[in-house]
Amino acid sequence: MNQATMSAANDNLIVAIDLGSSKTVVLVAEITGNGLRYRGHGVSESRGSRKGVIVDLERAVASIQKAVEQAENSAGAPVERAIVGIGGAHVRGVNSQGGISLGLKAREISRDEIRQAVEKARAIPLPADREVLHLLPQEFVLDEQSGIHDPLGMMATRLEVRVHILTAASSAVQNVVTAVNRAGVEVQDTVYEPLACADSVLRNDEREVGVCLADIGAGSTEMIVFHEGAVAHTAVIPIGGDHFTSDLTVGLATPGVEAEKIKRTYGNAVVTLIPEGNEVEVPSVGDRPSRMVQQRFVGEILEPRARELFEMMRVNLRQAGMLDLCAGGCVLSGGGTRLAGILDVAESTLRRPVRVSWPTPMAKMPRTLAEPEFATVLGMAMYWHRARIARGMQEDRWSSKFKAWFARKGA
Ligand SMILES: Nc1ncnc2c1ncn2[C@@H]1O[C@H](COP(=O)(O)OP(=O)(O)OP(=O)(O)O)[C@@H](O)[C@H]1O
Ligand SMILES: [Mg+2]
Repeated sequence: MNQATMSAANDNLIVAIDLGSSKTVVLVAEITGNGLRYRGHGVSESRGSRKGVIVDLERAVASIQKAVEQAENSAGAPVERAIVGIGGAHVRGVNSQGGISLGLKAREISRDEIRQAVEKARAIPLPADREVLHLLPQEFVLDEQSGIHDPLGMMATRLEVRVHILTAASSAVQNVVTAVNRAGVEVQDTVYEPLACADSVLRNDEREVGVCLADIGAGSTEMIVFHEGAVAHTAVIPIGGDHFTSDLTVGLATPGVEAEKIKRTYGNAVVTLIPEGNEVEVPSVGDRPSRMVQQRFVGEILEPRARELFEMMRVNLRQAGMLDLCAGGCVLSGGGTRLAGILDVAESTLRRPVRVSWPTPMAKMPRTLAEPEFATVLGMAMYWHRARIARGMQEDRWSSKFKAWFARKGA
């Protein structure tokens, strides 16, 4: 293939990179006439990044390189540029509102005035080290009429817009971009991971009626609430699957890797779901011999942590006034979801219907990717694909800079 044909072929590829706390995933998808088709992927153990923040650049670069190489081999195409996920406790979401007066007599709203109103809503005080990651319009209000999605060409004397603004620590974003660049990949765009994850796991009717998506990763749990099709709230709970593992490490006095194995094989977030009398062999630290421990004891360590996680989620949702908006319940994704019994604890603590997300499969995708921990990277490719289509349609409408739009599926 000559340079030009190769480049043209690569224009049809979407590459997504999810730099998780436990694993780095690179997914290559191809744009076809019928949507996206899987081309290849690579997974490596994450080193040098913790909860969305790079703590060791060199090790992070090596992890990315490893996953990129695997993805290139499996896709049979070079990975030159990618969209990269941003997440972690440094990301914050706030709701804001702003607007402009159009004069005493109602008149038609122009594209420029929509932009001005959005700029007004966006003008929140922002410390120098933070940047806007996404500006997500929720609705426009024309005079007294709310719930308008696109006010272009409509008549009013005043135009207001409500937005959800996601900001991130600039240095954290920059370090992620630098790590990806050093791994030889150009960053096309960044996307807030839960927003992208929603694309692979939420249904349109859930977004309309109100739903909370919670991604239980290794280091933290990220929540995003949709209501009437738009993002209403975002939050991070500083508990992830690794906290369950460290509880076992301490409670069972066993090395971390063993605690992780025990969690996956014998763990259950509901003590009473574990048969009485079952025993588990627990390796000791140092040169002491391993011990036999009641399997229920493992559950006794895990259950309070699970309750704490969902209790914190419930308090967060209630304080933000979101609990009553989540009529569609809660959807769980991320590797932490695989802990047995987690669904039961989630339902009893949140007192809402809860389901585990199985990501929408992509054509030709291997079954190993159809798991809750790959929902984010799959969603990133879907999100970007949808964003491209929306941008194409939007070029002659309002600013293509509004990532905005893409929060609204099928808009
Ligand atoms: N079978 C299982 N049972 C219980 N927990 C599991 C299982 N498989 C994976 N996990 C847990 O899932 C977590 C990893 O989830 P995931 O891959 O979604 O995280 P990540 O994306 O790397 O991290 P983050 O999103 O926090 O940056 C780990 O804490 C791991 O222990
Ligand atoms: Mg993750």
